[in-house]
Amino acid sequence: AAAQVVVVGSFNIDHVWHGEALPRPGETLVGSYATGPGGKGFNQATACARSGARTVFVCALGTDAGAELARGLAARDGIDLRAESPDAPTGTAGIYVARDGSNSIVIGPGANGLLSPEFIARQAQAIAAARLVLAQLESPVESVLEAMRLARAAGVRTILNPAPANAPSTRELLAVADVLTPNETEFAALLARHAGERVDAGALAEFDDARLHRLCRLLLPRGTVVITLGAAGAFVSHREDKCRGDEVACYRVPAFEAATVDTTGAGDAFNGALASSQAVAPDRSFADHVRFASRYAALSTEHEGAAAAMPKLATR
Ligand code: RIB
Ligand code: NA
Repeated sequence: AAAQVVVVGSFNIDHVWHGEALPRPGETLVGSYATGPGGKGFNQATACARSGARTVFVCALGTDAGAELARGLAARDGIDLRAESPDAPTGTAGIYVARDGSNSIVIGPGANGLLSPEFIARQAQAIAAARLVLAQLESPVESVLEAMRLARAAGVRTILNPAPANAPSTRELLAVADVLTPNETEFAALLARHAGERVDAGALAEFDDARLHRLCRLLLPRGTVVITLGAAGAFVSHREDKCRGDEVACYRVPAFEAATVDTTGAGDAFNGALASSQAVAPDRSFADHVRFASRYAALSTEHEGAAAAMPKLATR
């Protein structure tokens, strides 16, 4: 059967060090180490599959042990992995996590940085047959754009998770997103870059709904914006004339309580579950999809790691 969701994005081997604090320049600390699968694309594909959607994951991998790990894990979760193999190592991420949960990350994109628009174009059939395409910005903008354009041309819905915050993006890319899912930092960065509006990312959760809604409309006049606000939940802004039934143009969805041990990949859990919910239960309201995604993301923080922490959820 055709995939319900096509995820386009990165795979990384995450190397994670937990310590008391983050190392300062010139400082050497001793902490504990763990490694596991990550990358925003793979985390989201794993969340999507484990929350019930038939999933294709389009990515670029090296020809190394990391690539073998990706293939093995995808097979176990029933993910149809389609990888280009450019001449570069599989992506890596070095992550320091301090006791208070703050982190510092360095990404070595490797093969992810070479995912080509040509390879994406070869996935046109899978994209056209899907209900939804989901992408992030750890892959080249022109490749993400190609995937979203192919989706649009086939009448397939698109979700763009504009992460990480400092990734390049274009207005052209935003214009082909049906749903945009920034966190506070990403939202502030996109507003500054594409709408000439400066806001304090840390204060966004306290903005009143009318102000947030106006900013969302400015950034994505034709689509839906979901700002994830961590413990403050999520803010949803729809284009007014696209509201269905008793849907209102903007609202908040509170975060779910969790016994959090590790928030790495929580945003990815949210995006994967948001995609699968829309693909698997298209008749539900958008607010229901956001609630499902919030609950799924909360549960993902109860386990260590990124992709490995995605819960298996049969009920929605
Ligand atoms: O969103 C979390 C992910 O970001 C990690 O798995 C790491 O690989 C980085 O890409
Ligand atoms: Na986690």
